[in-house]
Amino acid sequence: MKGFVPTPPSIVDHMVAKLFEKKIPEPEDTILDPGCGRGAFIDGIIRWCEKNNTKIPRITGIDSDPKHIALACEKYSKFPSIQIRREDFLLQVHEKFKFIIGNPPYVSITGLTEMEKNVYRTLFHSATGRFDLYFLFFEQALNSLEKEGTLVFITPEKYLSVKSASQLRIILSRYCINEIDLVHEQSFGNLVTYPAVTTITHKKPDAPTAIIFRDGCTKSVRLPKDGTSAFPVIYGKTEKKSGHCNLGDLCLRVSCGVATGADAVYIHNKSEIPSALRKYAFPTITGRDLSINSSKVQSELEMIVPYEASGKLIPENQLGALKTFLSAPENRIRLLKRTCVAKKPWYAFHENPPLAQIQQRKILCKDITETPFFRIDYSGEIVPSHSVYYIIPKNPDHLEKIHEYLNSHEVRVWLESNCQRAANGFFRLQSTILKQIPVPFSILENEWLSCQKVTSLHVPEQPGEVAG
Ligand SMILES: C[S@@+](CC[C@H](N)C(=O)[O-])C[C@H]1O[C@@H](n2cnc3c(N)ncnc32)[C@H](O)[C@@H]1O
Repeated sequence: MKGFVPTPPSIVDHMVAKLFEKKIPEPEDTILDPGCGRGAFIDGIIRWCEKNNTKIPRITGIDSDPKHIALACEKYSKFPSIQIRREDFLLQVHEKFKFIIGNPPYVSITGLTEMEKNVYRTLFHSATGRFDLYFLFFEQALNSLEKEGTLVFITPEKYLSVKSASQLRIILSRYCINEIDLVHEQSFGNLVTYPAVTTITHKKPDAPTAIIFRDGCTKSVRLPKDGTSAFPVIYGKTEKKSGHCNLGDLCLRVSCGVATGADAVYIHNKSEIPSALRKYAFPTITGRDLSINSSKVQSELEMIVPYEASGKLIPENQLGALKTFLSAPENRIRLLKRTCVAKKPWYAFHENPPLAQIQQRKILCKDITETPFFRIDYSGEIVPSHSVYYIIPKNPDHLEKIHEYLNSHEVRVWLESNCQRAANGFFRLQSTILKQIPVPFSILENEWLSCQKVTSLHVPEQPGEVAG
C-alpha cells in the first residue's frame, strides 16, 4: 500500500468547495479522483451535491491498491455515475477531465524500487533529483485536465521550495495557479507536515496567486517561472540591500540538526548510556533545551551516532557493542518501523550527519519559537538534534559578531516578517529563510573585504543538507 493517508472530511469539504467555487458541476461534467483510496473525496462530492441540490456528475476514482478498490467499488455500486478503476494512475494515458481533486500519495524516492525510479524518470519531467510520487501525480493530473478545467490537490508545501521539485514548479508555472492555501498543520494529525491545498485552472497564467497563510493572513504573489523556490516570494523579501550580504554567503552551513528517525533509540540521558557505548555518544541538544532567558547551551542528553567523523555509516560488522545495543528487540523493532530510511541500512539515520563539520563552535537556534533568538555552542562538541538549526560561519572569527547581530532587534523584526508561522503563531526558522537574513558588512568591521573573498570561494554541496 503506497502512501495511504486518508483525508479527514473537514479538509475534503474545504477542498470540494474550492473545486466548485467558480463553476457548479453539470451532470455531464467529469471529475477525477486519482489515488482515490476508499473514496474520501467522492464522499465529499456526494455531500456537496446533496447540500447544493445538484445531480451527482460523472466521477472516476482510480487507485492501484486492490483493497481500497474493493471497498470503494462496493460503496458506490448503487451510484451509476461513479466509476471506480483499479489502475496505476502514473502508467496509463487518461481521457481529459473537467475537474480533478485529490490527495496524492507522498512517497519519497527512498520508498521506490530501482525499476520504479527508472520508469518514472523516463515518463515524467518532474521525476528529477530526490523526487516524490506526488510531484508525478501533479504532472499526470495536469496532463489529464481539460482546458479551463480546475484541479485541487492537497500535498506537503515542500514542493514550493525544494530543489528536487524545480522541474515541477516549471510545469506548474505554465498554468494559472489561483490559490495556495497553507492549511492547518494538524490537518492530518502528525502524518503530514505543513500541508498546502493548491487550486489550479488549465489556462495561461493571467493573474497573481493568492496565498492563504496558516494564521489567516493573505497575500497576492507572482510565483517565479524559472523553477526557483517560491518561498522567498511567499514568505520573505529577498532583495540584497547594498552594503549587505546574506547570512548564507558567510556560512559553511545553515542546516537543520541531525534527524535520527528514531530518537527513542539514539537519544538518552548521559547517565543511561553504558560505558561500552561511550565512544559513540555525543552531547546533543533539543529545541526545548534552548532558552531565551539563558545564554547556557546545555542538556543532559547524548546522541549515539553510528557514523564516522567523515559522515560515513560505520559498517555493521564493525559496530561491536553498538550492534548488540541496536539489535536489542525493542530497539530493532523501532528502527525497522521507520519508513524514512526504508532503503538504507536498518540502523542508518534519516540523513548522514556531517560530524566533522558539526563538531566546531557554532550558532544554534530553535526550529519553532515564539521569539527568534540565537545561542553559541562554545564547546563545539554538541551534535544538535533535528529541532535545532545550526549555523557555522566560514570564517570562525565571525562567530561572535554574527551571533550578536542575529540577536539584534533588526534581525528579530526581519525574521518576524519573513518566517512562516506555525498554527500557534510561533515562527518557523527554516534554513532557506535563515540563509537570506541580510547581514551588513559593517558588523564585520573592516573585514568585509575578506568576506567578499569568502563569498566567492566555492563551497561543495554538503552531505546531510536539509532544505527547509
Ligand atoms: C494519500 S492517499 C489518499 C487516499 C484518498 N484519496 C483520501 O484522500 O483519503 C493516496 C492513495 O494513492 C494510492 N496510490 C499510490 N500510488 C498509486 C498509483 N501509482 N496509482 C494509483 N493510486 C495510487 C494509494 O493506494 C492511496 O490510496
